[in-house]
Amino acid sequence: MSENRVQSPALRGKIMSAEDAAAFIHPGDNVGVSGFTGSGHPKAVPSALARRMTAAQSAGEDFRVGLWTGASTAPECDGALFKVNGVSFRTPYQSDPECRGRVNGGEAYYADAHLSHVAQNAAWGHYGELDVALIEVAAVLEDGRLVPSTAVGNNQTWLDLAKRVILEVNAAQSARLEGMHDIYAVGVPPRRAPITIVSSADRVGLPYLRVDPEKVVAVVETNALDRDTKFSEPDENSRRIAGHILDFLRHEVKKGRIPANLLPLQSGVGNVANAVMAGLNDGPYENLTAYTEVLQDGMLDMIRSGKLVCASATAVSFSAKALADFNANIDEYRKRIILRPQEISNHPEVIRRLGVISMNGMLEADIYGNVNSTHVLGSRMMNGLGGSGDFARNAYLSIFMTPSLAKNGALSCIVPMVSHVDHTEHDVQVLVTEHGLADLRGLAPRQRARLIIEKCADPKFRPALADYLARAEKGANGMQTPHLLGEAFHWHLRALKGEPM
Ligand code: COA
Repeated sequence: MSENRVQSPALRGKIMSAEDAAAFIHPGDNVGVSGFTGSGHPKAVPSALARRMTAAQSAGEDFRVGLWTGASTAPECDGALFKVNGVSFRTPYQSDPECRGRVNGGEAYYADAHLSHVAQNAAWGHYGELDVALIEVAAVLEDGRLVPSTAVGNNQTWLDLAKRVILEVNAAQSARLEGMHDIYAVGVPPRRAPITIVSSADRVGLPYLRVDPEKVVAVVETNALDRDTKFSEPDENSRRIAGHILDFLRHEVKKGRIPANLLPLQSGVGNVANAVMAGLNDGPYENLTAYTEVLQDGMLDMIRSGKLVCASATAVSFSAKALADFNANIDEYRKRIILRPQEISNHPEVIRRLGVISMNGMLEADIYGNVNSTHVLGSRMMNGLGGSGDFARNAYLSIFMTPSLAKNGALSCIVPMVSHVDHTEHDVQVLVTEHGLADLRGLAPRQRARLIIEKCADPKFRPALADYLARAEKGANGMQTPHLLGEAFHWHLRALKGEPM
């Protein structure tokens, strides 16, 4: 395998075990790893590092690192390091239970960030200096160029900024990924040029990552598949939410506001998003395109069926079955899929130019349309906002969706005032639950409130929400966005006590 996958003689000489490679990471280092939604993350060195941390901790030493990624990783990366309490700072997105536990327990700092901002934040030193880049690649070519793996994320930025580089060369990733990527750097203001992507299929960069071979301290060979991201069959609520969105898109086409093949689609994470894709796959649309952040099973189905002619993303995130199909038919998929740095997949300039239709999940929305995607009952982090803000603010159509109820019906996902704001009312054009869709475009706050209560709230909570609005309209200190400040969080306070809202 080393002959085939590590062709550069200089780097072949640096092949070593994960244990030896992990010795290049020291207490207090900042480590930038590859990885995005369970794909393309390092599979071996993080566990080896966790073992070193445990040994150091039993000798009374504090061995923790700052961990910067593309987005969420997997149990063998985030999971392994957080399990041993080995991370003091984490950015920019996670979905790991061990990580969530440490963050919500106050043992690790977590800087949740718009994914398109992270490379720039890092380059300007806002997270400190980057000591080590730990990057999974599919192959190292003879001249030292790197064939990226299933996620691009911030890899080029980490390779550029890091003082030392560790490469994991994963033989389980298809070598035929070569040519699927488009690596482009935006540069530094004021010398930035326009990003000349005018359709999802456009390429503006090169298909390889670059690294200064002098900085590479270790090359580790691995042979492990990406996380099996399981998707369940869409439940009744997901199907109904998807149905409302499909009706709405049909209406928009009929009105002539979007073309018959729609506009490039961005679809968030999770089962509801996949249900919408399944609905589109069964629908009347042809020649669809996607300009999105992560490609899940639903979009792969659409490429296979021929409905989706091109998809741009920064990573794939598949179930084991979809990954097997992707690898088996990669020469065909390479014609339809482009993987880019997350700074480009999520870039406001491109999203605005293409007129993306953005669809993302949320935890709760308030009657005026502010959205909380991240914080359960105001303080506990769920995952992070990921790219939802990059897309929501800049999309042509920004749609947020959720079942109307959470926790077996005890909680309403439509509340008087959200307990944390990720997306302001100005970034939220359409809200959808299983009960209906509220098209908020052009409406003033009190008009929005009536529509959201009528279309999106569960019927059992509608009277209480309408009553809150009516009393706020009488008792608030102003009529633009009436609130009863002493009461706005009563629902959350009840939920915190374990009582139904
Ligand atoms: N109040 C409290 N808890 C709530 C809630 C609410 N209003 N709504 C949902 N929850 C809880 C659920 O009960 C569930 O808890 P559990 O894990 O203990 O069972 C959890 O939140 C997730 O809810 P679920 O309905 O399974 O959500 P999902 O898988 O559709 O994900 C988000 C919803 C918001 C968590 C997810 O979309 C997300 O992380 N979004 C932000 C990132 C993003 O948008 N990325 C895409 C950008 S490209």
